[in-house]
Amino acid sequence: MKERIERIKEEFQRSIASANTAEEIEALRIKYLGRKGEIAGITRSLPTLPKKEIPAMGRALNVLKNDIQGALEGKKKHLGKAGKRKEKIDITLEGVKRDLGSIHPITKTLDRINEIFMFLGFKIVRGPEIETEFNNFEALNIPLEHPSRDAFDTFYLEGDVLLRSHTSTVQIRIMKKQKPPVQAIMPGRVYRPDAVDASHSFMFHQVEGLMVDEGIKFSDLKGVLNIFAKQMFGENVRLRFRPSFFPFTEPSAEVDLSCIICNGKGCRVCSNTGWLEILGAGMVNPLVFKKVGYNPKKYTGFAFGMGVERIAMLKYGISDIRLFYENDLRFLKQF
Ligand code: PHE
Repeated sequence: MKERIERIKEEFQRSIASANTAEEIEALRIKYLGRKGEIAGITRSLPTLPKKEIPAMGRALNVLKNDIQGALEGKKKHLGKAGKRKEKIDITLEGVKRDLGSIHPITKTLDRINEIFMFLGFKIVRGPEIETEFNNFEALNIPLEHPSRDAFDTFYLEGDVLLRSHTSTVQIRIMKKQKPPVQAIMPGRVYRPDAVDASHSFMFHQVEGLMVDEGIKFSDLKGVLNIFAKQMFGENVRLRFRPSFFPFTEPSAEVDLSCIICNGKGCRVCSNTGWLEILGAGMVNPLVFKKVGYNPKKYTGFAFGMGVERIAMLKYGISDIRLFYENDLRFLKQF
């Protein structure tokens, strides 16, 4: 009888380990604990044993019965939990969507501008936003008392240290450091004490350019800017150079782009003129060369400067500069 109990125990352990459904567990319960089951069978044959063995066998049978009952219930609970967990997965629910970021329109425009000029052989040079009065004004032929300083007058930090109002400061840095030939563009942030409105901001981005060597002519400037305009806005655009004034260039020009909306016919965007102002340019003033130690008799050069926000607004049809800085995803997601 002892061996029989051991055998039943082993057999049950094997069966319960491989039982995976509630039905299988119920079948095991009937097989071992049912009225006609294994335990009942042995219990019925207890009286055939010698009298003094009966109590010990009875106890052993009880232990086996309890063990089996416990194991069956344990497994049932375990399966139940797993079953419930399974039911919780709702395959009709949408998955978790992660928002992909996008490139800011200013960065996108800057990247494109940089790319076009790099293709034309310009190097990209960056400089600090905190500058000296000398690099921002004096070296660029804008002395303290000069009226044109008003338009650029900027945020002063301490003494003659200020936030640059244009990236022309980097032109000075390059020329102080190296001899011609120079062919570079300088992208970066600039600061001006302008009241903020739809077309002005106290901070914006610029790309300025500089090319200096022997024999650089105004026609080189026109050629470079024409290629830039066509690459940026399409083959059909034209440029117009209007005489203008900058202390650091002579002669100077304000450069207009044929309106990309009406193609020069005149519309609301170009105030019926057919033209959109996009940048300032000119031949580097010999006085600037003197300040940085270049020989103005030997070298000539051109310089230009454009506002990246302005270019982006024209390219994407954006009517308010403030949209660039508000971090409004409804706006930013469009690029
Ligand atoms: N520095 C000028 C500005 O900030 C732009 C410019 C650069 C004009 C070079 C002419 C030549 O407005």
